[in-house]
Amino acid sequence: LPVPATTLTIFGATGDLAHRKLLPALYNLAHEGALPERFNLIGISRREMPDDEFREVARNAIKQYSRREPDATVLEGLLSRVRYVGFDFADVESYKKLKTLIEELDEDGGGKLNRDFYLSTAPEFFPVIVKALKDADLNYDPDVDVRCIIEKPFGVDLESARELQSVVEHVFRESQVYRIDHYLGKETVQNVMAFRFANFMFEPVWNRNYIENIQITAAEDIGIGTRAGYYDQAGALRDLVQNHMLQLLTLVCMEPPASFEADKVRDEKVKVLHAITPPTPEEVRQCTVRAQYTAGDEGGEDVGGYLEEEGVPDDSRTETYAAIKLEVHNWRWAGVPIYLRTGKRLTRKVTEIAVQLKPVPHLAFQSQGSVGVQPNQLVLTMQPNEGVSLSLGAKIPGSSMRIRPVNMEFLYGSAFMSQSPEAYERLIMDAMRGEATLFTRNDEVLAQWAIIDPILKAWDADKGKLHTYESGSAGPTAADELIAPHKWRGL
Ligand code: BG6
Repeated sequence: LPVPATTLTIFGATGDLAHRKLLPALYNLAHEGALPERFNLIGISRREMPDDEFREVARNAIKQYSRREPDATVLEGLLSRVRYVGFDFADVESYKKLKTLIEELDEDGGGKLNRDFYLSTAPEFFPVIVKALKDADLNYDPDVDVRCIIEKPFGVDLESARELQSVVEHVFRESQVYRIDHYLGKETVQNVMAFRFANFMFEPVWNRNYIENIQITAAEDIGIGTRAGYYDQAGALRDLVQNHMLQLLTLVCMEPPASFEADKVRDEKVKVLHAITPPTPEEVRQCTVRAQYTAGDEGGEDVGGYLEEEGVPDDSRTETYAAIKLEVHNWRWAGVPIYLRTGKRLTRKVTEIAVQLKPVPHLAFQSQGSVGVQPNQLVLTMQPNEGVSLSLGAKIPGSSMRIRPVNMEFLYGSAFMSQSPEAYERLIMDAMRGEATLFTRNDEVLAQWAIIDPILKAWDADKGKLHTYESGSAGPTAADELIAPHKWRGL
């Protein structure tokens, strides 16, 4: 699909996300010739500065974070299409200025361009900006497409997500709204669907009859860095479980969609979320673990604990680790425990889905001294070492029938020998093309919050001792009890 002529406006253009991800992604799209011939980028943030100063900010961000060394001609070509507006998000005059600029750019190019508004500010401004876009009459145009791309977090709990949604739907039609969950833009996350629905051999075993449990891990080795202001309010559950991890879960558990069309895929995903019963307070006590990192190791260096991080209150009870046991209550999955775990400052960065099959029903080799027969395990690794691996039992060479597990592996790096695009490249391009499959729909986001909300509430009410784990470790021991009699895969 070609990308139509577009003016992309980024609210929060001097923020961390724009700096590290959005501007470099736009550069890489330009490098690949994926941007339309008529394309403008308007950067918006609260600081006043001339266009050239913002171009310098963008140039530096791209040089520092682009996945490829920028080519001077491509980079300057892109920057020549960049404009900047210093903004007060609550002031109608700012939106008038923006509108005038958009119209000027339309005229310069000889006709109207699509208008895409990307909200990458602090989340409290999302409703303010959305409402103001309507007041300024920027939310709809009969001649071109107008879209609103909204970064996470979409609300901080079920109620606030509903409130935000009611503002959004007052201003935009659902088909104009693109809610970002950047995990869906990752090649390896999309490969979960390719793996399941482009291969015939796994589908027959993809159910409760053959699968013992599923483990989804999103472990990070880094701490919270300089994000205390955001993170201490959010915690691991809101930061990663509510969005990325539940999205991974839906992709593993969904029924095959009839087509890759946005609503067909999202209809199947939301059914999975609706089949997860929100836990009662008692279930939260039994089926969740939260913990905070203490001093230890990060990348070979001694580091302090979470409470010593700059900007974190001494008595913070925010979790930096969460483990949860869930079940999808439907015919395919009833009785299969699905374990999710995520945390900062764990042993290493790894995002993976491990599908543990049941043991064979009868072991013919036992009497011959077999060792190490393990149930098959299929691991889809999103990062690092992106790929798929399947463990099999194999005969150890020799005169006796001894078995041990071996791995059959597909690795992206060696199979395709090319660098994958970054998630944001795919997402920005898809949004500009009006392709919504890799964005979350309103009902999905609300269903995600409906699962997470009771956990947040029960954790808030529980004033008991918080679990801890050493920085650089595999997490709190309480998480091993949660998963028993199963075991977490080693980190
Ligand atoms: C973000 C979280 O959504 O995802 C961060 O806010 C986290 O805390 C990040 O570090 C992880 O993303 P990725 O792409 O590095 O796995």
